[in-house]
Amino acid sequence: MSAHYDLIIRGGTCVLPWGMEQTDVGVRDGRIAGLGIGTDATAAETIDATGLHVLPGLIDPHVHLRDAGDAANAAVESMPTGTKAAVLGGVVAVFDMPNTRPALVDATTLAVKQDYAERVAWCDIGFYVGATKTNVPALAELETGRGVCAVKVFAGSSTGDLLVDDDAGIERVMRSGRRRIAYHSEDEARLQTRKPQFKSGDPYAFHMEWRDEECAFLGTRRLMALARRTGRAAHILHVSTAQELEYLKDFRDVATCEVLVNHLTQVAPDCYERLGGYGVMNPPIRGERHRAAAWAALRDGTVDCIGSDHAPHPRAAKERPWPECHSGLTGVQTLVPVMLDHVNAGRLSLPRLVDLMCAGPARVYGIVGKGRLAAGYDADFTLVDMRRTRRIEESWIASPCGWTPFAGMQVTGWPVATIIRGMPVMREDEVLGAPRGRLVRFAG
Ligand code: DOR
Ligand code: ZN
Repeated sequence: MSAHYDLIIRGGTCVLPWGMEQTDVGVRDGRIAGLGIGTDATAAETIDATGLHVLPGLIDPHVHLRDAGDAANAAVESMPTGTKAAVLGGVVAVFDMPNTRPALVDATTLAVKQDYAERVAWCDIGFYVGATKTNVPALAELETGRGVCAVKVFAGSSTGDLLVDDDAGIERVMRSGRRRIAYHSEDEARLQTRKPQFKSGDPYAFHMEWRDEECAFLGTRRLMALARRTGRAAHILHVSTAQELEYLKDFRDVATCEVLVNHLTQVAPDCYERLGGYGVMNPPIRGERHRAAAWAALRDGTVDCIGSDHAPHPRAAKERPWPECHSGLTGVQTLVPVMLDHVNAGRLSLPRLVDLMCAGPARVYGIVGKGRLAAGYDADFTLVDMRRTRRIEESWIASPCGWTPFAGMQVTGWPVATIIRGMPVMREDEVLGAPRGRLVRFAG
């Protein structure tokens, strides 16, 4: 008797953990039930993926959806709109940063977000819990909460007021739980000391002078010393300098790291001249030497994950003079198209992209049941057309703030369908059904 499935994806080239194969995938009860299923198998729904690549659902482990559970920033971004942007961009799960208002730093806010996400999210979602100078005793329990991907420490200040910048404070956080901790690594003391050297109306490019390479390197060197001392695993978010990437190679026993699509794609001074405030983010976009180092580190395996650091702000706030303009760039919807364009340009392979956006996050954060095309895993898929050429337009952006630093960029390679736990949620720019996102599960 032939097998019956809920969904079959036929004829696509699948990026499997062991290589690329053209094979048919059968889905039952939201999970991958089989690979290489027979031609006589039947299904309630069949997707013809001939000419397409079938990737495990791609994960963006670094977004700021701004929403503490009340859509208070709905004119800029919220969980419903940010997760819709994710699925339109071929992303099946996002990990949301805690610098919301109120910040996610306690059990009450976590409970609100857990409940809210299960009602409004279009994709699956994980939450970072922010460390503060006062919530350390609660972190060990908070980090094992439902849907919590990690504790996040802002060791240098950025948007919002989360900050633990002193060594003793960071060490206390490191000694307060077990799971890998994610860090915003910039040296706060250096940031503050150098701030008075700059004035309102200075060129936007001064952003990378203020938050300079030394600032990033000092931050990471301090964190590595503390991680070694405590034995607590660290994940350095958005590494932006050649020096840090070189340094981190000697700390693979305690550290993993992320680079951002903007640091791989944009370059100073061009970004500041072309984009003004729309090129300002923390840590900053820097010169060509650092972009080249990011690619080299991506190729030699130093880099574990890539993310968008999707950080929406109102246009008015981005258009203020430096340094009053807000830092942060949108990106969850453009991450996959821009990275597929890099694949087509020969800068990385499709399997390496999958490694960075599926296996990488699974390894770093301990994701359960996602990030791999294999029997028993969640039936999450990103279907991509590697031959499609398209211009990124702001009219396509679902985040209400409505802008992207990649506006006008022509890319080749495009996500044409997003399938989450067996449910098609996006096909050809159209969002399907209702929000049915779930909290991502994590080991430990
Ligand atoms: O540019 C940034 N924007 N970097 C951060 O660390 C935070 C983010 C935001 O929340 O706007
Ligand atoms: Zn961020």
